[in-house]
Amino acid sequence: MYKLHIDKVTFAYGPLQPPVLADIGLSIGSDEFVAVVGRSGSGKTSLLSLAAGFLKPTKGRVHIDGRTVEGPSAERAVVFQDDALFPWLTARQNVGFALKLKGIPKAERERRVAELLAHVDLAACADKAIWELSGGMRQRVGIARALAADPEFLLMDEPLGALDALTRERMQEFLLHLWQDSGAGVLLITHSIEEALFLATRVVVLAPSPRRIVADIPVTFGRRLLQGDTSRAIKSDPAFVAARERLRDLIELQDFEV
Ligand SMILES: Nc1ncnc2c1ncn2[C@@H]1O[C@H](COP(=O)(O)OP(=O)(O)OP(=O)(O)O)[C@@H](O)[C@H]1O
Ligand SMILES: [Mg+2]
Repeated sequence: MYKLHIDKVTFAYGPLQPPVLADIGLSIGSDEFVAVVGRSGSGKTSLLSLAAGFLKPTKGRVHIDGRTVEGPSAERAVVFQDDALFPWLTARQNVGFALKLKGIPKAERERRVAELLAHVDLAACADKAIWELSGGMRQRVGIARALAADPEFLLMDEPLGALDALTRERMQEFLLHLWQDSGAGVLLITHSIEEALFLATRVVVLAPSPRRIVADIPVTFGRRLLQGDTSRAIKSDPAFVAARERLRDLIELQDFEV
């Protein structure tokens, strides 16, 4: 079990800028699925970029069990909304690229890529170019590529934001199973309160003013899907609806400061 710690982190984009995040404390276990919600501008992407090592804290420290995060690393794989896949390469080549960079020999690379593409249910499309795939398929290639490095943590910023409602629901189920099978801790940024409640083991609410965590709520709805309940049954359950309304109230109550 690893733990990614965001330890008393304050972050400003420049010395003369007000902090975007102030004194943030958040730990994510490698067995957890943590979803972060909050209004636009509340600092969600900044938080993920700090966890990924793209940004350095102004104060405080990001570390995995004491090992300070100094920059991006394969142990913390990142998936963005519009993932930068190579459009002229095939799904197989896109996933294989990360392994090639790591210097993994061809035979092993081929075996691992086939396994990863099967894992994201894309075995049949392995040799299609990215431009021939749907949005949901592209996102799954991006996730397979992130998983290629066998990360301890999967950091995702609105990975399903561009998908239509039905594909998004299927992808949510896919993400839950993937989390269960991969053994990687997940930090998911989402605009959707419903998605956060459905997927996460904890939902964290960021408030834009004074730019801090205002709630950290344990959740169990996703576990029910893994135990065989359907998405529809879970999302229409009065307990789910009540939790969703409470969370919406909590976010709307926060003052907005630009
Ligand atoms: N590169 C940057 N330079 C300066 N300020 C930035 C930069 N990126 C973001 N900000 C500012 O930091 C604050 C938080 O932005 P951030 O992108 O983290 O919010 P967010 O919660 O991800 O918003 P959204 O939901 O719209 O994606 C905003 O006020 C934004 O203007
Ligand atoms: Mg953002």
